[in-house]
Amino acid sequence: MTETWIILGATSGMARKLSQRLAEQGHRLILCGRDMADMAASAADAVARGADRAEVVAIDLRRPETFGQLVETADTTDGVLNIAVFAGSMPLQSDIDADPSMIAGVVTDSFTGPAEVLTRLIPMLEARGSGTVVGVTSVAGDRGRVGNYVYGAAKAGFATYLSGLRNRLGRAGVHVLTVKPGPVDTAMTWGGPKLPFMTTPDAVAEDILKAVEKRRNILYTARIWALVMLVIRMIPEPVFKKMSF
Ligand SMILES: NC(=O)c1ccc[n+]([C@@H]2O[C@H](COP(=O)([O-])OP(=O)(O)OC[C@H]3O[C@@H](n4cnc5c(N)ncnc54)[C@H](OP(=O)(O)O)[C@@H]3O)[C@@H](O)[C@H]2O)c1
Repeated sequence: MTETWIILGATSGMARKLSQRLAEQGHRLILCGRDMADMAASAADAVARGADRAEVVAIDLRRPETFGQLVETADTTDGVLNIAVFAGSMPLQSDIDADPSMIAGVVTDSFTGPAEVLTRLIPMLEARGSGTVVGVTSVAGDRGRVGNYVYGAAKAGFATYLSGLRNRLGRAGVHVLTVKPGPVDTAMTWGGPKLPFMTTPDAVAEDILKAVEKRRNILYTARIWALVMLVIRMIPEPVFKKMSF
């Protein structure tokens, strides 16, 4: 059955791959983000791949006055409405240390902006008693570490928000999937150091589709990161605080 998928952060490497797969399944897509030209090209590509319909909506998570158009567009849909949030930003921790005013932007892009947009859309899913929310956080949110603790804190906040949302929406028949990627080969990691167990946007998109189908609650992708983070969370704080990775 054709469903509608709102993709927030549609220009993200991972979102692009998921959108392609959803288009091939014939769904309707609403691509949201800042880069209208890029999203228009993705929408055309989605229609060519078989999407029922694909449109673009401008939204800048740092400008709440841009949120209304998405809510209005979502309200024009009927049937099952799903939302996938890929938006986020990860400046270097050293840049943030040099300019602490950047913290607000990172938290807005990765946590409070997506949370506000979701909170505005959620009543539609609740009223319909169906749908899925996919929220992309990060393994970086599982434990604060020296290399990226502001980004990690924002992702931890978003993961906690999603946990509460799952608690709220489960009873209305709406499913919430929290996605925790390890390193993925995208624009975000481009030019950075070589990272262990790195995966691809294609593999992440496949993992998300399977997890949505199985109505899983939390997805680590690549899977190995579930084990890695279990070990990392168990390291006692007196030891962990001396580690740098
Ligand atoms: N790559 C990794 O290794 C990795 C690992 C774990 C988690 N993640 C998370 O996975 C998600 C997708 O990341 P990616 O690797 O695909 O990176 P990406 O290509 O940099 O995607 C980030 C997305 O967030 C959007 N965005 C940022 N600030 C925004 C704002 N103020 N308003 C609207 N959109 C905004 C970007 O839009 P613009 O094109 O307009 O900038 C882009 O679509 C992110 O949440 C990221 O934190 C990534």
